Amino acid sequence: MKLFDVYPRWQIEPVRAQGCKVYDKDGVAYLDFYGGHAVISIGHSHPYYVEALTNQLKCIGFYSNAVLNSLQDEYAEKLGELSGYPDYSLFMVNSGAEANENALKLASFHNSRKKVVAFRNSFHGRTDAAVQATDNKKYKAPINENIDVIFLPFDNLGLVKETLFQEDVSSVIIEGIQGIGGIQVPDPFSLQKLSKICEETGTILILDEIQSGYGRSGKFFAHQYAGIRPDIITIAKGMGNGFPVSGMLISPKFKAVHGQLGTTFGGNHLACAAAIAVADVIKTENLVENAATVGAFLIGELKKLPQVKEVRGHGLMIGIEFTEPIKAMRDRLLFEEKVFTGVTGTHIFRLLPPLCVTMEEAKEFLSRFKKVL
Ligand SMILES: Cc1ncc(COP(=O)(O)O)c(C=O)c1O
Repeated sequence: MKLFDVYPRWQIEPVRAQGCKVYDKDGVAYLDFYGGHAVISIGHSHPYYVEALTNQLKCIGFYSNAVLNSLQDEYAEKLGELSGYPDYSLFMVNSGAEANENALKLASFHNSRKKVVAFRNSFHGRTDAAVQATDNKKYKAPINENIDVIFLPFDNLGLVKETLFQEDVSSVIIEGIQGIGGIQVPDPFSLQKLSKICEETGTILILDEIQSGYGRSGKFFAHQYAGIRPDIITIAKGMGNGFPVSGMLISPKFKAVHGQLGTTFGGNHLACAAAIAVADVIKTENLVENAATVGAFLIGELKKLPQVKEVRGHGLMIGIEFTEPIKAMRDRLLFEEKVFTGVTGTHIFRLLPPLCVTMEEAKEFLSRFKKVL
């Protein structure tokens, strides 16, 4: 059997990784400023994480949600404290798209409305409702067309207000910082206004923090720069440091109804062990603060480069935009300078290193980056 060929792939195969470094089969070390697409939070192969998962596997790796699993409660308590949402409830699933799918569904269960408002250049995943709320036709199949999503520009709050005051929109979904859309940071004042309009119109505000959350922005959640409290917050990527796990934080205004949501694999023992270990390390190693400090340094230094058109972002979610296409630069950075980075579109580098990246590694990145400019 061959693989279904949907991914363009580099001819590099990482076989080992440690901290912010990834090694191929010949032992060549790469500096990881991509984090496997913003997934690696506490660093590759963190010993505490490896031990926690190994020990858990020796006890019990999986059982269904039909029985008690106190690891879920332990994780929920730790997440509540770490995130500043101790009064919210947790529902665990397996991927980012699945978390958004459930969030959109829960909102609709709650207010019995059908429409969704999303924003231009959004990305929320590839399942039915999530992909329909994604502003990219390429990802949508005809089967996804039934869900009624209205795409609005975020800088036109008048239009948002007009739409929501029809009082027939179930939810508004927005990324804490747009990732695939090019590291676009929403203006905090507009987010506050959006939150207020949602409250006034009975519309559920869903914050997709799948990429921007879990400390990446230098706060636990990017929306905390605006001081708002959304109704539902979705999380994934950094939550498991590579173990597939996701979830949503649900405001106390929602009533849990048996059977409305469900999952076979979500919140399994291994997923919880991974999520607990990540939460512990984020707390004990002060990784949110580290993301803020190293990120501010990187952003400051990148802004000094005359070749760069614009630098955007917060913490360790950084977009570097050029006037010219960056493909050649990115190839040299990867193949000659041995640095993994993300990109978005044709002109923007996306830096998403592990949250444990050190100042020395940041300086090393800058020196290699300057060589390819
Ligand atoms: C903001 C955002 N939402 C949702 C998703 C979908 O997550 P997944 O690929 O785990 O389904 C992504 C993935 O890149 C994302 O960046």
